Amino acid sequence: MQSQIGKSFFDNIRRYVKISYFISSIIPLALLAYMSVKYIYPYLQLELPIYIGVLLFLAVAISLLGLSLLTKTTNASILSLHDLHSRLNALIDITKHFRETIYIDLLLGNIIKSAMRLNSTEAGSLLLCDEAGNLRVKFFTGEHPRLNDRIVKVGEGISGWVAKTGKPALVNDVTKDNRYNPDVDAGSRDTARSIMCVPLIYINKVIGVIELLNKKSGIFTKEDEELLHALADHAAISIAHSRLLENQQSDMINITEIFVAAQDSYNHEKKGHARRVANYANLIGRKMGIPENELRNLHYACLFHDIGLIKISIDEQFLKERYKQHPQFGYEMIQPISLWSNAAELILNHHERYDGNGYPSGKKGKEIPLGTRILFVAEVFDVLTSKNSYKDPIDRDAAINEIDVNAGLQFDPEVVKAFKEAIKDSDLIVE
Ligand SMILES: [Fe+2]
Repeated sequence: MQSQIGKSFFDNIRRYVKISYFISSIIPLALLAYMSVKYIYPYLQLELPIYIGVLLFLAVAISLLGLSLLTKTTNASILSLHDLHSRLNALIDITKHFRETIYIDLLLGNIIKSAMRLNSTEAGSLLLCDEAGNLRVKFFTGEHPRLNDRIVKVGEGISGWVAKTGKPALVNDVTKDNRYNPDVDAGSRDTARSIMCVPLIYINKVIGVIELLNKKSGIFTKEDEELLHALADHAAISIAHSRLLENQQSDMINITEIFVAAQDSYNHEKKGHARRVANYANLIGRKMGIPENELRNLHYACLFHDIGLIKISIDEQFLKERYKQHPQFGYEMIQPISLWSNAAELILNHHERYDGNGYPSGKKGKEIPLGTRILFVAEVFDVLTSKNSYKDPIDRDAAINEIDVNAGLQFDPEVVKAFKEAIKDSDLIVE
């Protein structure tokens, strides 16, 4: 993006400097004239006309005026430059913050509050285009709030005009602007004084607008508009990015559902097993204070721990050596999928035992990932208690006791301790 920030500011400075330079350049001309009068005229023995003296006086006076103007404009320029520098720095910080905010509701709030702060306004609104092509108020702030989700038709009011044309609007007196419509724009007829509104454009398409109401002091300037435009460009990219992430997450939730349903229908006897294991593992993991991202990996590992079985036909699953390949198959299936790849390691190890008598590697103790040690306890608890299990189910307390007896053998004693506390604290009813 080619930045236009401060272009009007620097254009003004150049104009002032040109004028000042022109005026002050008269000084050497005046000196030349003076020297001529003083030394050349007497030499030529000509009489000095009075108007030459007047012209000399005027030339010197104009030169002094020019110098004074130059000093004044230079000082003003430095002050403005300092102010612009501060605002540009603020803009850089703001846009960095946008990139780091992935949740769209937080992002919209950040955008409008930052726009208000950067331009010192009383209120601000952010409107996004909906699927029908209308604008919807998504976030507002200030003393003159607008209703959330209120619809503004494209073309109506200043915000609608900006959405329709894709051009910014800078209105320093709303009473003199026919586009202003208090029914759809920010502020009422009594309170609205000035409005600055810019489009949010992503890949040549208007996706919304930012509308700011009432500059706290002074009027909106071209420089304000350029800064808001730059902020809006970054905001539009961040909104599009955040929407994309949300869509991806929603897609992955749906894909996860399809995979789990496919597993359940493939092995009908184990229907619901993966979800129950995920539920128990989540209780244990939370009790042990596992960070949220690791809980997510554990969740997916539980859902897909036996997915490798679909690579082994039902008939072959009774062959012990063939069956033992399913953790490796599961690992190979899950690892390439970015959302689930961190769960793959847990799946690979889900038949390892704490005492080292498991498979496929015979890892023991803390060599086995913590998530897997949790998954194992959760899985066995479900196998012991589930009606769909190949064995007759036992009741909850008997299952807890069975697991407790095997702490230090099959299971990590710390995980078993957390499991017993988690089960006791929860209202868990085994299905
Ligand atoms: Fe398994």
